[in-house]
Amino acid sequence: MTDPKIPSVPPLPGSNVVSIAKLADHVGEEVTLQGWLYNKRSSGKLHFLEVRDGSGIVQAVVFKGDVSPELFAAADHLQQEASLTVVGTVKEHGKIKGQYELQVKEVKLLGAPSREYPISPKEHGTDFLMDNRHLWLRSKRQHAIMRVRHSIIKAVRDFFDMNDFTLIDAPIFTPNACEGTSTLFQTDYHGEPAFLTQSGQLYMEAAAAAFGKAYCFGPTFRAEKSKTRRHLAEFWMVEPEVAFMNLEEDMRLAEHLLSYVVARVLETRQNELKILERDTKMLENVQAPFPRITYHEAIDILRQNGHPEAKVGDDFGGDEETVISNKFDRPVIVHRYPISLKAFYFARDAKDPQLALNMDVLAPEGYGEIVGGGEREGDLARLEGAIAEHRLPKEAFEWYLDLRRYGTFPHAGFGLGIERTVSWICGLPHVRETIPFPRMLNRLAP
Ligand code: 4AD
Ligand code: MG
Repeated sequence: MTDPKIPSVPPLPGSNVVSIAKLADHVGEEVTLQGWLYNKRSSGKLHFLEVRDGSGIVQAVVFKGDVSPELFAAADHLQQEASLTVVGTVKEHGKIKGQYELQVKEVKLLGAPSREYPISPKEHGTDFLMDNRHLWLRSKRQHAIMRVRHSIIKAVRDFFDMNDFTLIDAPIFTPNACEGTSTLFQTDYHGEPAFLTQSGQLYMEAAAAAFGKAYCFGPTFRAEKSKTRRHLAEFWMVEPEVAFMNLEEDMRLAEHLLSYVVARVLETRQNELKILERDTKMLENVQAPFPRITYHEAIDILRQNGHPEAKVGDDFGGDEETVISNKFDRPVIVHRYPISLKAFYFARDAKDPQLALNMDVLAPEGYGEIVGGGEREGDLARLEGAIAEHRLPKEAFEWYLDLRRYGTFPHAGFGLGIERTVSWICGLPHVRETIPFPRMLNRLAP
């Protein structure tokens, strides 16, 4: 989307390099492209060079009659991923409306690959592709996923910005365990133990007391010991926190955010969704209000649908979440889990103190939990009790307890996992493709 108030950066004087995405503005003109050779085929007097520049892919047609014999011969030997400067005239594609091609006048080889490019159109194993993630990102499918990710993040930011939230960045190094001690990455901080943050939430609670409506967006870390299709060791989370907001309003905030994000992706990323062969019917249903069920109702659904052993007190894994969400045509919100299953900071339901005022949003089509949040405990003594019960070191939480000492206030918020959201919206089988450089149990490279 272009905003007329935002000036576009003018090209350097004398430069006629254009991006492939902008070729429509240059039909009939001679332009210069800079990019890489994506693919090539030849037929007699013609070489068809597929050139990509990051903004798109264009077919550059080299006709024997238009170029020198040396250039025509050299074009036949260009290797996949050679970097190039191509000069030519922009033409409308003969058959496909809205597509353009280049009638080539000149090709300059900038960097010839010193080895054969390892990723070819043939099928490769996942490990091989993951080892070559730095190159795999150049492929059409990965390109489409990263563009959708970009649009999801942009939509999330726009949503909060338009709703008067202030962006407050949370730290990465922290003395606090927010989400339990079993998934902490510990590190050395000038001789003191410190952790990589699991969530910015505790800091957003401080921010809510200072700004009313705040959110953070950044990387978070969990030493997840399990290998699943939805767990990363490093993932990005957006976390709004709002003063004087209750659980019901928290659910409304989450469903409106998700509806907006999905609508924006459907509006701006149809091409990418097509490349990913995503069936968008289920995405079109994603409109507020979402159905809401209690944890106890979720247990009943499980019992009636192939999990007769399910009982109150069980936590849900991916399989259970799939069974529950399959009952609905859009995301479903499950609220009021047993407090014993939840992190120390949750407020209790006044009607049944065994229940937390929490909620999870489960995405449809088996994608499971994408949002987790709820109301926070505002009472100093009860929060101190919860910190002791969870065997957390009280000293590290003194600053957090101050938020209850100085004008304690009802408040709520949630965390939305970006990668799980990308996985769901793109319809991917695994989160490893949703982040440029995934960090998982057995993967720290590239
Ligand atoms: O449910 P979680 O653990 O909630 C929190 O961290 C809260 N402190 C958030 C808050 O209330 N401000 O995590 C929130 C979301 C999950 O619903 C999921 O989408 C994502 O973060 N998530 C992960 N994504 C990828 N890999 C992992 N290992 C994840 N763990 C959580
Ligand atoms: Mg959760």
